[in-house]
Amino acid sequence: MAVMKRVDDFRLRFGKRELVPIMIGGMGVDISTAELALEAARLGGIGHISDAMLPTVTDRRYKTKFVREKQKQYKLNVHKADKSIVQFDLAQVAEATRLHVSKTMEAKRGDGMIFVNCMEKLTMNAPRETLCTRLRVALDAGIDGITLAAGLHLGSFALMEDHPRFRDAQLGIIVSSLRALQLFLRKNARLNRLPDFIVVEGPLAGGHLGFGMDWAKYDLRTIFLEIGQFLQAEHLDIPLIPAGGIFTGSDAVDFLESGAAAVQVATRFTVAAECGIPEKVQQEYFKASEEDIEVNMLSPTGYPMRMLKNCPAIGSGIRPNCEAFGYLLDGNGNCAYIDAYNREVAAHPDAKKFSVRDKTCLCTHMRNYDCWTCGHYTYRLKDTTHRNADGTYQVLTAEHIFRDYQFSTDNKVALPPQN
Ligand SMILES: Cc1cc2nc3c(=O)[nH]c(=O)nc-3n(C[C@H](O)[C@H](O)[C@H](O)COP(=O)(O)O)c2cc1C
Repeated sequence: MAVMKRVDDFRLRFGKRELVPIMIGGMGVDISTAELALEAARLGGIGHISDAMLPTVTDRRYKTKFVREKQKQYKLNVHKADKSIVQFDLAQVAEATRLHVSKTMEAKRGDGMIFVNCMEKLTMNAPRETLCTRLRVALDAGIDGITLAAGLHLGSFALMEDHPRFRDAQLGIIVSSLRALQLFLRKNARLNRLPDFIVVEGPLAGGHLGFGMDWAKYDLRTIFLEIGQFLQAEHLDIPLIPAGGIFTGSDAVDFLESGAAAVQVATRFTVAAECGIPEKVQQEYFKASEEDIEVNMLSPTGYPMRMLKNCPAIGSGIRPNCEAFGYLLDGNGNCAYIDAYNREVAAHPDAKKFSVRDKTCLCTHMRNYDCWTCGHYTYRLKDTTHRNADGTYQVLTAEHIFRDYQFSTDNKVALPPQN
């Protein structure tokens, strides 16, 4: 009888390094915390921190005052629709990135690695300059690798081209189609530097989706195999890392046996104690049934996003908070939420409070853990733990979940020791 394989029978190779082929995906805004990433690295895999809204994150974590300073500088603009003057101070963006990355890297133990997830759609009212600062300072501060996310990133490698670590850090990209990958490779051909890994993210992932609202027509395995065949035909030896809906160790083994170098997973870790989501909100993730989850167009980025239908971000009509945040302002100071909000102001001139239904103020709600983005299989989380006597669910440890992926077989999920 053939012996059933486990994830632990495989290794991800980066040069001479060998890693457990489990990568915990980047989850902004500080959902994939340093603590979560550090556990993945300690256990021999790869963890991500996210560089989304870092000035806010370092204020909370390291007592910096970046948000207050920015808010003070632009306070006279709060009631204006035109946000074009609200610019980030690049020195502060650099300092926040340096702090978060270097503190995380200093704390790293074990044989694994820590990458940073860097989303191009966080255009920060000066897309090129802010992205350049974020990427280069992360390299300066010693990050092991960068995962380029939420965007095509056609120019991102060039922004790091002359950085001393450009050829030694692990640099990869997330794509959801062969076309996106081909475009990236074509645009970067002159740099003579291929990505070190490619995350192929399917439509069941959490966060923003690289698909339209017809996401359900696509499936991860098909896209993964198509990209694998393309790389083989082109004689390109780049590790492929599928992501989106890989819920058990057996799901992961299926991909590893089909040629994946590793898997990227996230949803299972949203209910880990080390994850940034507050425990009260984690209980909402546990409780969710399939009908409680939707993919909608509320994100001002224009990408569909999956979230729990009962989250406070949906329908909230708060005033845009770009003077404090403003991470989604495009190069001209526009954000789709500002337009939606101002339309409602005009429609309800006397109302103190109203609802904005078509867009959400993503910066504010992600920052406050009020936008409950989640993967498709969130409704299965309740089956991964015990129910407490009071009806709540027992929060897991990252180590337990990681090891379950690493060692489980037969589509089983190991329950944790009962508290
Ligand atoms: C709560 C949550 C937040 C996420 N945020 C981001 C993000 O900020 N950037 C990103 O590239 N992917 C993000 N993702 C996607 C994950 O990194 C990962 O690729 C995907 O969710 C894997 O599928 P799974 O959740 O089914 O395991 C997020 C996923 C979740 C569940």
